[in-house]
Amino acid sequence: MIYARVAGTGSYLPGAPVTNDDLVARGIDTSDAWIQERTGIRSRHLASPEVTSSQLAQEASLRALEAAACTPNDIDLVIVATSTPDYIFPSTATLLQARLGMSNGAPAFDVQAVCAGFAFAIATAEKFIRSGSHKRALVVGAEVFSRILDWNDRGTCVLFGDGAGAVVLEASERPGILATALHADGAQNQILCVPGQISRGQVTGDPFLRMDGQAVFKFAVKVLSDVAKEVAELGGVPLDAVDWLIPHQANIRIIQATGKRLGVAPERVIATVGAHGNTSAASIPLALDAAVRDGRIRRGQKVILEGIGGGFAWGALLLEY
Ligand code: UT7
Repeated sequence: MIYARVAGTGSYLPGAPVTNDDLVARGIDTSDAWIQERTGIRSRHLASPEVTSSQLAQEASLRALEAAACTPNDIDLVIVATSTPDYIFPSTATLLQARLGMSNGAPAFDVQAVCAGFAFAIATAEKFIRSGSHKRALVVGAEVFSRILDWNDRGTCVLFGDGAGAVVLEASERPGILATALHADGAQNQILCVPGQISRGQVTGDPFLRMDGQAVFKFAVKVLSDVAKEVAELGGVPLDAVDWLIPHQANIRIIQATGKRLGVAPERVIATVGAHGNTSAASIPLALDAAVRDGRIRRGQKVILEGIGGGFAWGALLLEY
């Protein structure tokens, strides 16, 4: 039996933290008290204008490669989850491949499932590895969401941040990913979207993130609970035997409500949203790397990672770290 096992993790956040009070000082009609009470967010990182997702991905990847003790050319599959790619094309994954100096012809492509993107990307890489066709995948979530925020819309601009997280997955006879579950419901595509495009050299539609916050909130709590139960059942591991739950880091109230519905104690739920804000596809690998590096997640422990985002798309992974 071949498993896809986490060999190393890495992450990167651009620049210094930008606090809620910093946003107020920049003229946004909000307050630290409102943001903390409704979301748990204290600060986020915002990339400077010239920094792109592929650059953030490169920094996170170098850390993950080092943790996995391998070089870029040891990687035979590159998948980047992003909704804020450097270009319309080529993919951010190929730009990352070039940045890393990879010359082995490994396939590289992007996955677009917004905040669920990392779960979709890992599940995809896992299928390649389990099939025996590939041995070592670099899977990255990287975002510069600050570029698609309407800074005049206080209901959304205070929620998001920029960053990247990466995982090296490798083929192993020792258990790694035990189960995956992915879902989407296109009927919900309007409650969280950036409904614009580039056409004939012009931006058409609306190029900023739009969200029905309360609809997203309710949907998120329900499906994050359902999909965590589903993946635990698929993997044959009862929820009370799962050591760590890493939900998408959008809002501490969603994270807490999900943990409560699942009966997972708060101290077993990893939450980095306070310091990172919502970094979309980067949020899960950023949280995973933080908990691995600070020693909470240890080898042999069972972890559920779960994401949800525009589409709507959602998914979960159960793994033995
Ligand atoms: O990856 C998934 C991404 N999205 C999410 O996870 C978002 C899920 N939704 C949420 O987290 C919450 O719906 C929000 C945090 C976005 C909003 O919280 P809420 O409790 O649903 O607030 P609301 O939108 O109903 O707004 C309540 C009040 C309004 O004022 P009035 O009409 O009651 O006077 C807003 O204008 O809060 C006001 N408000 C703000 N006030 C200060 C909205 N944004 C802000 C703000 N600062 N940043």
